[in-house]
Amino acid sequence: MTPSTRVQHLLALLCLTTTTLAGNAGIIQSCLSQGGVDTTIATDETWANETAAFQFRLSREPVAIAHPQEKSQVALALQCAHNASFQVRALGRAHSFQGYGFGNPGNLVINMAAFQELSFDESTKELTFGGGVNVGPAAKYLWDNYQRHFPHVRGSHVGLAGSFMGGGFGTTSRFLGIPADNLASVEFMLANGTIVTAGPSSDLLWAAKGAGPSFGVVLSAKTKTFEVPVEGQISYSLALGNVSVDTASAALVIIQDWVVSGKAPDVLSLRYSLSNFNSAGFFYGSEAAFDKALAPLVKSLQSIAPNVNLTKAALPSFWDVEVASAGAGMNDPNGGSLGGRASLVQSWTVTNNHPLNLKQATALLESYHSLNRTDLSLSGFLDLWGGISRDISDSDTAFAHGNNLWLVRVDGVARAAWPSDGNSYMQALMKPFETALEKSAPLRSFVNYVNSELSLKEWSSRLYGDKNFARLKKLKAAVDPTDLFSGYGLAIPAK
Ligand SMILES: Cc1cc2nc3c(=O)[nH]c(=O)nc-3n(C[C@H](O)[C@H](O)[C@H](O)COP(=O)(O)OP(=O)(O)OC[C@H]3O[C@@H](n4cnc5c(N)ncnc54)[C@H](O)[C@@H]3O)c2cc1C
Ligand SMILES: *[C@@H]1O[C@H](CO)[C@@H](O)[C@H](O)[C@H]1NC(C)=O
Ligand SMILES: *[C@@H]1O[C@H](CO)[C@@H](O)[C@H](O)[C@H]1NC(C)=O
Ligand SMILES: *[C@@H]1O[C@H](CO)[C@@H](O)[C@H](O)[C@H]1NC(C)=O
Ligand SMILES: *[C@@H]1O[C@H](CO)[C@@H](O)[C@H](O)[C@H]1NC(C)=O
Ligand SMILES: *[C@@H]1O[C@H](CO)[C@@H](O)[C@H](O)[C@H]1NC(C)=O
Ligand SMILES: *[C@@H]1O[C@H](CO)[C@@H](O)[C@H](O)[C@H]1NC(C)=O
Repeated sequence: MTPSTRVQHLLALLCLTTTTLAGNAGIIQSCLSQGGVDTTIATDETWANETAAFQFRLSREPVAIAHPQEKSQVALALQCAHNASFQVRALGRAHSFQGYGFGNPGNLVINMAAFQELSFDESTKELTFGGGVNVGPAAKYLWDNYQRHFPHVRGSHVGLAGSFMGGGFGTTSRFLGIPADNLASVEFMLANGTIVTAGPSSDLLWAAKGAGPSFGVVLSAKTKTFEVPVEGQISYSLALGNVSVDTASAALVIIQDWVVSGKAPDVLSLRYSLSNFNSAGFFYGSEAAFDKALAPLVKSLQSIAPNVNLTKAALPSFWDVEVASAGAGMNDPNGGSLGGRASLVQSWTVTNNHPLNLKQATALLESYHSLNRTDLSLSGFLDLWGGISRDISDSDTAFAHGNNLWLVRVDGVARAAWPSDGNSYMQALMKPFETALEKSAPLRSFVNYVNSELSLKEWSSRLYGDKNFARLKKLKAAVDPTDLFSGYGLAIPAK
């Protein structure tokens, strides 16, 4: 080919692709418009706004975005997608670190923003939330009207359906359970448009607790709620001073020993920062109880970190802890704003059966502190889990989290655009820790913070384990035989 025929050839190809995409979008748009469903496509002015997501690393290229206002319109969207051979993603509040709300290019995305129901049942003490509700408004509704709480994740703008189905972890999860543990029922629309309420003891509720987005669209769901602690609430920080990585690793093991020996109350939340080695969190109880609980820990730490410094502040109300932990957006009617960055998240969980040994703790801190480039920055921490997970077994919910002791999370965050070798670099950076961890037990992870680059074999064993995964596959074959909800990285295969 001469250069000019090559250009003509390319132009022809480009036209063809554009026409096909527009054609597909047109088919779906005209199908949906029959039912009066507002549908946006790439040529619309609002497209950039509507495809905005927290994760900048991954592109969002759905064929169209539907905005159903009622259940029958969701059913229509599923039928239009099925008839035109598109897969479907339900979009909550677009916070997925792995871009799962939009999923693979070419999906029909169903934006659930119109599903904003919030109600409280005085007899069951359950909160019902619509499939498009986010954390801040729901928590505030329950606090303002009933002075009650439900365990939720820390970001005020984050979607509830998505965060519950990804396990979820928040500041009250050590004593009240993770969000998924507290899901009482889920109103799902299945691939064929049938609405089912998955209640206690149903396979579908079990599956929702870790893998829900593979099974249907959540129209609404119910969570258990709790009275708030009445004896007080403390915010605290425990700084080690200027210590080496070796000392900080030994300190982490001392903190863990204190927990494993049963001295850390379940009402304490603790997040150990991999950046500055401070531990910080909240205590849901009296100041006297806090002082008594922390005293032996501070004493043990002093033996290796003489400048250890515990600071604390009593907060006026439970709601002040909610705002301190989940952000000022907790008081905003929209839950604040979306935000975002280009990042790769990796996570691991560790159980009470195999607490971190000093080698593993050191490998974690050393890996984290060996970053040797300037286009990436890191954020990382261990959330203390433990608490009532001691009474949970891996088979209780699809997401295997029985007996979890730590939730470890490391994010590589781009200072500008995500570098082309960012994924491989971040995985190599944390490899020594992963290798050390694997010597004690098979690797485990956390759905909401899963590394998007794992293979199916890796994520299925880390998140669910072989038994739960086999059960999920069977259920998938029964309720979504055409793989309508499979256009994303964590789709449960039917076979
Ligand atoms: C700033 C920030 C803070 C966070 N803090 C925490 C934290 O403290 N603890 C924690 O555990 N996680 C946390 N997360 C992770 C968060 O919980 C998950 O990313 C969650 O899935 C986001 O839900 P979403 O609706 O906002 O996202 P989306 O990207 O819209 O959806 C995420 C997934 O849920 C599915 N989904 C959403 N709504 C529905 C529905 N109605 N029906 C069916 N499927 C649906 C989507 O299809 C997709 O698979 C945080 C994330 C961010 C960005
Ligand atoms: C999209 O537009 C709406 C309405 O103008 C605005 O409230 C919202 O903040 C915008 N979202 C983003 C991510 O820009
Ligand atoms: C989908 O296809 C079926 C079978 O051909 C048809 O009955 C139905 O009307 C179609 N649905 C829509 C929304 O076009
Ligand atoms: C921390 O300690 C190291 C090694 O002792 C020293 O080089 C460094 O200046 C100290 N940093 C601060 C902020 O004190
Ligand atoms: C302890 O930490 C507090 C809060 O960060 C700080 O104000 C104080 O100076 C610290 N004290 C010591 C002895 O380092
Ligand atoms: C930078 O860190 C990476 C990952 O840990 C390592 O493979 C590489 O050798 C390091 N490069 C330099 C120049 O130190
Ligand atoms: C829809 O699918 C579910 C799950 O497979 C099934 O139980 C139900 O009978 C189906 N409904 C219709 C109308 O086909």
